[in-house]
Amino acid sequence: MIIIKSDQEIDLMRESGKVTGMILRELYHLIKPGISTMDINAFVEEIILKNKMIPSFKGYNGYPAASCVSVNDEVIHGIPSAKRLLADGDIVSVDVGCTYKGYISDAARTYAVGKISEEAERLIQIAEESFFAGLKFCKVGYRLGDVSNAIGQHVEQAGFSVVRDFVGHGIGKSMHEEPQIPNHGQPGRGPRLAKGMVFAIEPMINQGSFDVDMKEDNWTAVTTDGKLSAHYENTIVITDGEPELLTL
Ligand code: MF3
Ligand code: CO
Repeated sequence: MIIIKSDQEIDLMRESGKVTGMILRELYHLIKPGISTMDINAFVEEIILKNKMIPSFKGYNGYPAASCVSVNDEVIHGIPSAKRLLADGDIVSVDVGCTYKGYISDAARTYAVGKISEEAERLIQIAEESFFAGLKFCKVGYRLGDVSNAIGQHVEQAGFSVVRDFVGHGIGKSMHEEPQIPNHGQPGRGPRLAKGMVFAIEPMINQGSFDVDMKEDNWTAVTTDGKLSAHYENTIVITDGEPELLTL
């Protein structure tokens, strides 16, 4: 069942989303060669706590940190480490969630570390664009498959691949609610969108094959072929008109 949120609930999710979105914007200034993935996590956690919110990821299924920080071939769920230093030319995906009065927002960006290759730049760009391609269909009158299809088409037309093993999701009092939102699919299929649905839409896209493996830490997903991966995510609300982005 897809849980419909009231206006009051969406007000709380908006407050939560503001902090998540602000953190991701600030990270464009923080991320540079030489900092560790733990430095990024410390910054994220500090801002969440300063705003009197709760880091939603910490303790979720035993996850140890406030953010996921995934470098280069790491797709998602990279565990921050003081030993993992970012180098010029890396790309790094940061995924953040915070909880306000029980309501969760979830969003991610992929950042360039120093000067990166044109191909890496394009991968990051297409991940973002594919989110907005899907967002065009986040309106009453469309179905979930229209959103998934638009994302997948955009990614594949650019020559990249869509990760199959992880999907976007409904979000609210729980981080993962129904429906699952694949980043590829068939138009005209799936549930009809309705006012008050709240989704975390999150294309994860690979430079090479869509195949991913799990690292020994049982969290970090990496590309099987070792090529780059990028992630772009926002929490959004279906309204009477245009979708509202809570984490921009
Ligand atoms: N954005 C991630 C997701 O949707 C957040 C979960 S990470 C976890 O799966 F560490 F908290 F599990
Ligand atoms: Co998510």
